[in-house]
Amino acid sequence: MTSADSAMVRCAQVARTFGDGAAAVVAVHEVSCEVPPGARIALTGPSGSGKSTLLHLIGGLETLTGGTITWPGLGGPPHGRAGVIGMIFQGPSLLPTLNVIENVALPLRFDGVPSATADDRAARTLDRLGIAELASRLPEELSGGQSQRVAVARAVASRPKLILADEPTGRLDHRAAGHVISVLLEAADELDAALIVSTHDAEIAARLPQRWTMSDGALSSREVHSR
Ligand SMILES: Nc1ncnc2c1ncn2[C@@H]1O[C@H](COP(=O)(O)OP(=O)(O)O)[C@@H](O)[C@H]1O
Ligand SMILES: [Mg+2]
Repeated sequence: MTSADSAMVRCAQVARTFGDGAAAVVAVHEVSCEVPPGARIALTGPSGSGKSTLLHLIGGLETLTGGTITWPGLGGPPHGRAGVIGMIFQGPSLLPTLNVIENVALPLRFDGVPSATADDRAARTLDRLGIAELASRLPEELSGGQSQRVAVARAVASRPKLILADEPTGRLDHRAAGHVISVLLEAADELDAALIVSTHDAEIAARLPQRWTMSDGALSSREVHSR
């Protein structure tokens, strides 16, 4: 259905090895895949199977040690370009000394958006995600679920075409986890963006129609299932 040129990302025999010699760790090995526009992919697999490394490679944040990655549907490599890829990192990533709106506005400011405009766009993003009332809180004043919704807001404030969420629900209870996934799916729909969510949780994975499974650094299966 998708022509090759419209793929957001195409990976061909992609590999990433950390270290060398006897200490080398093969994190990702010969992964070939394509992320079509509008994709809603759950990336599953046990801890250490290479999910974070693959997401970082797809996001252009990690150097390849083999193969090639191209971003034809994104107009080329995403590095240093605003509004292309939004990343939600595994683990806490909000800056503790900045309040919520400052955290969400920060990447926009780094991209050269004037501060008043960045704050306005951050405020509108918080509003769209239903968390406007958190704007002046510090990260330490947020619950886990609220923190992750702010991390989603920060990732989508630049209106990216591809959203990469690395275990965004890993430390949340079921209710908060379900809410964060809803927010991600709504943001992806609103932006007409592709979405990849890595997760351990089968219930979370079942919220997305496509599933990629990793084992030992390889993409061992790709399935489409009905919701
Ligand atoms: N920066 C790094 N340096 C060395 N080894 C790493 C690094 N990042 C990941 N690894 C190793 O690569 C493998 C895959 O890790 P990762 O991509 O984090 O898997 P997952 O996200 O599925 O838990 C693991 O064995 C991990 O220890
Ligand atoms: Mg990981």
